[in-house]
Amino acid sequence: MRILVIGSGAREHALLYTMSKDPQATELHVAPGNAGMSELATMHPLVVDDPAAATALAREIAADLVVVGPEVPLVAGVADALREAGFAVFGPNADAARIEGSKAFAKDVMASAGVKTAHAEAIAPGASAQDVEAAIDRFGPNWVVKDDGLAAGKGVVVTTDRAAAIAHATDVLAAGNPVLLESFLDGPEVSLFCLVDGETVVPLLPAQDHKRVGDNDEGPNTGGMGAYSPLAWLPEGATERIVSEVCEPVAREMVARGCPFQGLLYAGLAWGEDGPAVVEFNCRFGDPETQAVLALLETPLAQLLNAAATGKLAEFGPLSWRDGYALTVVLAANGYPAITRTGDVIVGAEPGREAEGILHAGTARNEAGELVSAGGRVLNVVGVGDTLEAAREQAYATIKTISLDGSHYRSDIALPAVERRITV
Ligand code: GLY
Repeated sequence: MRILVIGSGAREHALLYTMSKDPQATELHVAPGNAGMSELATMHPLVVDDPAAATALAREIAADLVVVGPEVPLVAGVADALREAGFAVFGPNADAARIEGSKAFAKDVMASAGVKTAHAEAIAPGASAQDVEAAIDRFGPNWVVKDDGLAAGKGVVVTTDRAAAIAHATDVLAAGNPVLLESFLDGPEVSLFCLVDGETVVPLLPAQDHKRVGDNDEGPNTGGMGAYSPLAWLPEGATERIVSEVCEPVAREMVARGCPFQGLLYAGLAWGEDGPAVVEFNCRFGDPETQAVLALLETPLAQLLNAAATGKLAEFGPLSWRDGYALTVVLAANGYPAITRTGDVIVGAEPGREAEGILHAGTARNEAGELVSAGGRVLNVVGVGDTLEAAREQAYATIKTISLDGSHYRSDIALPAVERRITV
């Protein structure tokens, strides 16, 4: 199989590396990719949200399978254009990608499908300051204020500070986007990724993301600073419950609405007293959870994604997993998630070190050919072990060997789980 992966983050690096171990993946291409992928795949320039350019590239490569990583091209209709041109695509069409692209659409689907989620209210751009305050006062004392568009996790503010909630809503509206206010869902967060092909739903292992920038969940939200999998603290049968109460009803509802989902349905949940409730859906693999989940997958990934892309998921056998745990820690650039400094030299993370757990996210080469930071989240380091403690030790031992001026990472990824401080 000649495979083209669209995207440039550590999620795409993990997808490429895991597919490289599949004997049926004979040729790997990535567009646009990052500096860490140069030994794994042929790299091509691409503006990722340009459907015509993506289709032209798939033709040039004669791709057998195209895997679209991020949400932006999916919402822009890249998968539609590729499917219309006859390619097998892993990733939903634009109408199905609205499950992430429009939080209001996702709420409507969940209401029809009878899926438990937070109460929500939208505020349209143009609302007066008084209307914004009145809407804010219908929620609280924990406010969840979301940018109802694509904001890579950074568009969500969760706060007990009414003024901060009003300020974020005002900023989002001023940028011309609608705001979604949600009631706060209690309970630890779970990310469950499901391969979906119409009404067929195949779950991967559950994971937990750490979204705040600092240890002990302090500081602003980010795209994710680390993750681990699986979640030993979940009750037995939790994955099956999420599939039957959340993912399957949503997949059926999407088919009934004429926008069947084909790709990766990411259910972001809070596990409360009564079990799972949906915080949000995404239409693609999560980042950084994917880096941990795929480190445990033994099933050949290219064949699995191809089955989903070609309508054969129901015929694919059960998935096989390595016993134990995996964990990923994100190394972020100076200033992230606020004003990020790029162009700093990275030492100790040259390409080709995936087996040691080093995956690249925002990296590039400067004019001198040095490896430099080129984004907020720069690298991921994955550890795998028979216990979560062992996975943590491995990841943190490796990250300490890498240097990047001004960089930072969380030191407590998975620590609450290791210390058995998570209860449901
Ligand atoms: N880890 C959060 C996300 O992928 O949206």
